[in-house]
Amino acid sequence: MPLDLDDARLRYHYSFSPEDHERLPFYSALMRALESDELALELLAGVALEQRNPMLVLGALHLAALRGHPVLAPDYEAAVRGEIVDVPGAARTVIAALHDDPALVRGELHRFTQTNEPGRSAVLQAVIARIANGRDRTINLIDVGTSAGINLHFDHFPVRSRDDDNPLTLVCQDLAGVNRSLALPDVATRVGIDLSPLDLAVDDDRLWLKACLWPEEERRHGRLDAVIDARSSWPDSTVLAGHAMECLHEALAMGDREHLTIVMNTWVVAYFSKADQAAYFDEMVRLCSSENVAWASIEFPWVVDWPSPSGDGQPPRKGGSQILATVPGGSPAAWGWCHPHGHWLWMDDLT
Ligand SMILES: C[S@@+](CC[C@H](N)C(=O)[O-])C[C@H]1O[C@@H](n2cnc3c(N)ncnc32)[C@H](O)[C@@H]1O
Repeated sequence: MPLDLDDARLRYHYSFSPEDHERLPFYSALMRALESDELALELLAGVALEQRNPMLVLGALHLAALRGHPVLAPDYEAAVRGEIVDVPGAARTVIAALHDDPALVRGELHRFTQTNEPGRSAVLQAVIARIANGRDRTINLIDVGTSAGINLHFDHFPVRSRDDDNPLTLVCQDLAGVNRSLALPDVATRVGIDLSPLDLAVDDDRLWLKACLWPEEERRHGRLDAVIDARSSWPDSTVLAGHAMECLHEALAMGDREHLTIVMNTWVVAYFSKADQAAYFDEMVRLCSSENVAWASIEFPWVVDWPSPSGDGQPPRKGGSQILATVPGGSPAAWGWCHPHGHWLWMDDLT
C-alpha cells in the first residue's frame, strides 16, 4: 500500500497545541520542519497506524542526542538550557542530521510513544479522591498503559498551585470544581498493564523515558530524575506485559476483593485499534455496572471514539483532554477537562 504522506503531514501539523508552539520554540520549529520534509513524512507514514505519532520521531531524534550524537547533542543541550540563539537554524541542523543518517529514526520506530507523565497524577488525585469519597477508604488500582508505572504512585506527589523547591511537586491550576481537601484513599494493590513496560532500573528504559520528554521543559527532566531516585522508597507495584484487553482480568484478579478497584487509563486508548477502543469501553461499562469496579479515563476525545456524555461540550482551554469517570454501579459520565500534562484541571459540578 502506498504511504499516506498527507496523513503524516496532518499528524505533524496538529500534534502540538497552539500553547505548545508558543512555549517550545525549538520543538515548534522542528515540528514545522518535519512536517515539510519528505523523508520525515515517509518515516512517520511507515509506522503501524496505532503508533503513528510524531512524538515517536521526536523521541528517536532526542534519543540520538542523549546518546551523544555529535551534531544533535549540542543543540538539544542548548534547548534544555533555553540557549538556542538561531531556532530555525537549529531545526534545520536536526533535519540535516536525519538526512545524513535516517537510521537514527528508522532504527527506533519499533518503540512505542511511552511518555510517562507524573503531572497527570495531579488530575488523578482529584478524580480518584472524588470516586472514593465517602465510600471506600482503601482501593485497588489498575493503570492501563502504565509505561514505567509512575502514575501508579499518584499519591506520592505533592500538588500545588505554584512551584516550590521540591522537584516532585506537581503544579496544577484548579480552574473549577476541584476539591483538594478530599482525602486520598489508601492503595492496597497497584497493578499496571503495558504492551511494552519500561523499568526505571534499566538504563535503556530510563533513556527512552527521557527521550520522550520535550527538551525545553527542564522541570520535567528534573522531575523524572527525582522519581527515579524516589521510586525505591515507594510501595511495590506489579506490571503485566501485554495488551490491555488481554491482561485486564488478570489484573482485576490480583486485587483484594474486599476493596473497590479503580481502573484508570491516561493517554493510552488512542494507541488502540478502533475495534479495541470499542471493546474496552464496553468492558469497562460492564465491569462498573456488575463488579466492585470504578473507572477513571483521561483521553483526547477526538482520537477516542466513545459515546461522549458531554455531547458537543468543548474544553475550557484549547487542546484539553476529557475526563470520563464512573462510580461503582454507575455508567460513564463526563467529569471535566484537563491539560494533557496536568497543568490545569476543570471539574464539572456533579451535585
Ligand atoms: C503515551 S504513553 C502514556 C503512559 C501513561 N499512561 C501516562 O499517562 O503517563 C502510552 C502507553 O500505553 C502503552 N500501550 C499502547 N497500546 C497499548 C495496549 N494496547 N495495551 C497496553 N498498553 C498499551 C504504550 O506502550 C505506552 O507505554
